[in-house]
Amino acid sequence: MQTLEASNQTLSYAREDWINGYRSQLKEFAYPIDQIEGEIPADLEGTIFRNGPGLTDINGYRLKHPFDGDGMISSIAIKDGKAFYRNKFVRTEGYLAEKQSGKPEYRGVFGTQKPGGWLANAFDLRLKNIANTHVVYWGDKLLALWEAAEPHRLDPQTLETIGIDYLDGLLQKGDAFAAHPKFDPDCQGTPRMVNFGVKTGLSSTISLYEFTPDGKLAHQHKHSVPGFAFLHDFAITPNYCIFVQNPVSFNPLPFVAGLKGAAECIQFNPKQPTKIVLIPRNGTDEVRFFDTDPCFVFHHANAFEQTGQIVLDSICYDNFPTLDDAEDYSTVDFDHVPASQLWRFTIDLTTEAVNVEKLVERPCEFPTMHPQKVGRDYRYLYMGATDGPVKNAPLQALIKKDMATGKEQLWSAAPRGFGGEPLFVARPGGKAEDDGWVLLWFYDSAGDRTELAIFDAQNITPGPIAKLKLKHHIPYGLHGSFVSEYFGPDAAH
Ligand code: CO
Repeated sequence: MQTLEASNQTLSYAREDWINGYRSQLKEFAYPIDQIEGEIPADLEGTIFRNGPGLTDINGYRLKHPFDGDGMISSIAIKDGKAFYRNKFVRTEGYLAEKQSGKPEYRGVFGTQKPGGWLANAFDLRLKNIANTHVVYWGDKLLALWEAAEPHRLDPQTLETIGIDYLDGLLQKGDAFAAHPKFDPDCQGTPRMVNFGVKTGLSSTISLYEFTPDGKLAHQHKHSVPGFAFLHDFAITPNYCIFVQNPVSFNPLPFVAGLKGAAECIQFNPKQPTKIVLIPRNGTDEVRFFDTDPCFVFHHANAFEQTGQIVLDSICYDNFPTLDDAEDYSTVDFDHVPASQLWRFTIDLTTEAVNVEKLVERPCEFPTMHPQKVGRDYRYLYMGATDGPVKNAPLQALIKKDMATGKEQLWSAAPRGFGGEPLFVARPGGKAEDDGWVLLWFYDSAGDRTELAIFDAQNITPGPIAKLKLKHHIPYGLHGSFVSEYFGPDAAH
């Protein structure tokens, strides 16, 4: 046991603290935040929305992976230096069914099985649309997204679920609509939301959709791509949609037989190249494929075009990150989970060569940047990161990378704080690319509550300029959005 103790001393956190932040939050709240450390900037106005699993158990029956947990939306509306918090579960069909029966009625994609062993699970191939991955606001609609099914529309003020949204008939029942839309700040003079849906098997079909600011469909096209495609995210430039097709295969037998969740049947093939797929946004020009080093990507930071080249910045893992043999997420061995790093792929459109460069070696995830720089050459990137420079661990820090100088700024909530996805918010009227704030939700295990930290984006290292302290914890989230509309009650004015 001496070895174990010795290695524990190098950890920046206690496992129990980290696990505490995953506990289910069954309650739904609405209150003005009265515990504020520091000051909310007077010119910061709008609403931050966040989605993530609100449950990690169903009446005490533990989920194997938090990604199988029902989506719960949190919002903080900010105006005049004041803030109002609210949270609500998305009323999906599955959430309502399980709330009524009090037990798991579905299998989870990430390995949660219904009670009763394989017999109870075999041939149950239904998907539970858990609406837990992202929440975006576009065309006056607040949408909770989960990549394998349709979006749920919510009321941005009350967070009440309005229902499944088929996007004016664009989607059919059961159609996939990815959880990572991209927002082009300037497509011939107006912004666009660009998103995709993928149907995969032996070959894959990628559908691409572009929406005008009023939420109407501007343009759609469909492409067939050889092989199985696990596509969680993509990147855009003014002319291209860019996907990374990870070198993975899918053997559905253990899933069909009731032994494993669908995502546990994904196999990484380290001898196969990762493919970068370039789909022209005009929908008519040729789709091109570029081979690069084997790696696994969930998230992209950004992409841009330069003479004869496309640059793509992505968070890369050496391998597909799984729970390995751990019984569930809480016992996962971080030393056995591949670490994520920021890689830059430079694709030469003439020679088809792809140059790979590691930009950030510290384990990092959840990149965010200035919204006006999406698809354009950019300078600053913000990400969740580990406290230590090398070892894989929960995200406890916030890192800012200056692409021009290579310099990094870091702030860490270790040992007792745990973070996740930051969001960059530009200061109204600001000129510099980093003139604004970075908003970061983190779990303070010492106080057993979640806080929203607000940083001056130009000066990350000294720590937050304000901390908005909730009265309780909310389980670690996945993705969220900031919108400049204030969706709080009038009373908070
Ligand atoms: Co994601």
